Amino acid sequence: MHVAITGASGLIGRRLVETLLAHGHSVNLLSRKGSLERAGAQSSIWNPEDGPPSAGKLSGADAVIHLAGEPVAQRWTATAKRRIHDSRIVGTRRLVEGLAGLERRPAILIAASAIGYYGSRGDEILDESARPGGGYLAELCVEWEREAAAAEKLGIRVARIRIGVVLDAGGGALGRMLPAFRWGVGGRLGDGKQWLSWIHIADLAELFRHVLENSLGGAWNGVAPNPVTNAEFTRVLGRALRRPAMLPVPAVVLRLLFGEMSEMLMAGQRVVPGAAEAAGFRFLYPELAPALSDLLDRGAGCPAS
Ligand SMILES: NC(=O)c1ccc[n+]([C@@H]2O[C@H](COP(=O)([O-])OP(=O)(O)OC[C@H]3O[C@@H](n4cnc5c(N)ncnc54)[C@H](OP(=O)(O)O)[C@@H]3O)[C@@H](O)[C@H]2O)c1
Repeated sequence: MHVAITGASGLIGRRLVETLLAHGHSVNLLSRKGSLERAGAQSSIWNPEDGPPSAGKLSGADAVIHLAGEPVAQRWTATAKRRIHDSRIVGTRRLVEGLAGLERRPAILIAASAIGYYGSRGDEILDESARPGGGYLAELCVEWEREAAAAEKLGIRVARIRIGVVLDAGGGALGRMLPAFRWGVGGRLGDGKQWLSWIHIADLAELFRHVLENSLGGAWNGVAPNPVTNAEFTRVLGRALRRPAMLPVPAVVLRLLFGEMSEMLMAGQRVVPGAAEAAGFRFLYPELAPALSDLLDRGAGCPAS
């Protein structure tokens, strides 16, 4: 299939492009920055701030994967919140406007969303049928998914992948945690009881491929089947690095360091991949310890391939 991908230069996009190319798909990488150099890939410039992508940038696409968005893991100043919001809501709207203008439309739009959709939910087990939660991120995700779902009116199937904490030693949440853990100062956040729904980057890329190749719409939780508490995650990571995890980071310190964004670190969601399991998707890394060992064996600190 020919797949147009936004946000392809990011953590998930880079791995996904590699996976799709390895399975014989062709890709067009849409980026704000300029042409992305990638062997075997076509690339085009598209900045959502400039309006919808022109027809030429999407023409010939059998599918579109939409990953672009301002990083959420930053201090949520008023300006950052606006960028986080607009890059997703207005960006997705512009993309759908671009799709509307095509003579031949893709069969499927696969749009990123996040498990932040569910808000902070304690020990409740959340599959895709769970109602959305409240708060900044949950409201953002609801709006983000609604914009993507508008493509259904164009006769395009829409899949929304509610992505959990993506584990990749070369970046993302794990990449940021590793230096502290290596120095022996990594510890659980707050009381550590909050659930952390994680996924190995290889499984997430395969889940996107599964949805793409089988043209499956609807909501998908992009998480491994075995979420853990933050305290358990800290223990397993400490063990994998042969560093006893210590020095818990109190909630009040997180608030000082990260401001309102600390809510995201303290919010827990116990999310399970109900749709993926029902579709017979097989996870390479259903358990945390082997997932971390695999990533750390590959050499933490190396850029994600
Ligand atoms: N990684 C995770 O753990 C995780 C968890 C839940 C949800 N997600 C969601 O999945 C998507 C991809 O995640 P990722 O980790 O690959 O993100 P990432 O590494 O931050 O990459 C996102 C890409 O979006 C584009 N982008 C960044 N800021 C933008 C802005 N202000 N306006 C428009 N485009 C912008 C960039 O591409 P160009 O510069 O090339 O245009 C960037 O490479 C994101 O929407 C993210 O919210 C990720």
